[in-house]
Amino acid sequence: MTGTLRQLFDEKAIRDAVKRLAGAISRDFGGQEVIFVSVLKGAFMFTSDLLREMKGPVKVDFIRVASYGSNTTTSGQVTLTKDLETDIKGRHVVIVEDIIDSGLTLRALRDMLLARQPRTLKICALLDKRARREVEIEGDYVGFTIEDGFVVGYGIDYAEQYRNLPGIYVVEEE
Ligand code: PRP
Repeated sequence: MTGTLRQLFDEKAIRDAVKRLAGAISRDFGGQEVIFVSVLKGAFMFTSDLLREMKGPVKVDFIRVASYGSNTTTSGQVTLTKDLETDIKGRHVVIVEDIIDSGLTLRALRDMLLARQPRTLKICALLDKRARREVEIEGDYVGFTIEDGFVVGYGIDYAEQYRNLPGIYVVEEE
């Protein structure tokens, strides 16, 4: 896919959304410790900014699931390629995702993590592409709801490119 990048959200808009989400999570957990489960790779930048805005005690761990390969459409196959190092049993857990698209990744992840019996399990996603949902799953904390389209930047890639962009862009085909 070749195309031009059209900006959807600049750094300021993202920063404001991150502050709002961290504020809501901090309030909801009222000073209790929260474990953020960051879903690699796309969520790494969002996770680090979110952590810096959190008020209460926070731990972070990383998990990696393979769902797309290098294609731009979902395969429906979700496999765990890197597990957590933290025991989440009895803990307050928030899954941190860059984007919910078909919802297949999060549904599989949620079911895997629920089996480990956390005290609570919430979902925080920066972007929610609702129109593409194939399974019923909702984010508890959502930054922006967006239209269909291929987005990149702020951790999100196209074939491993563009993760470094500080803003979020949609790739428009030429
Ligand atoms: C993206 C994104 C989500 C998932 C969302 O990850 O980070 O994890 O796809 O899609 P879904 O709702 O249709 O399952 P990707 O597999 O591209 O890996 P990456 O984060 O390493 O880029």
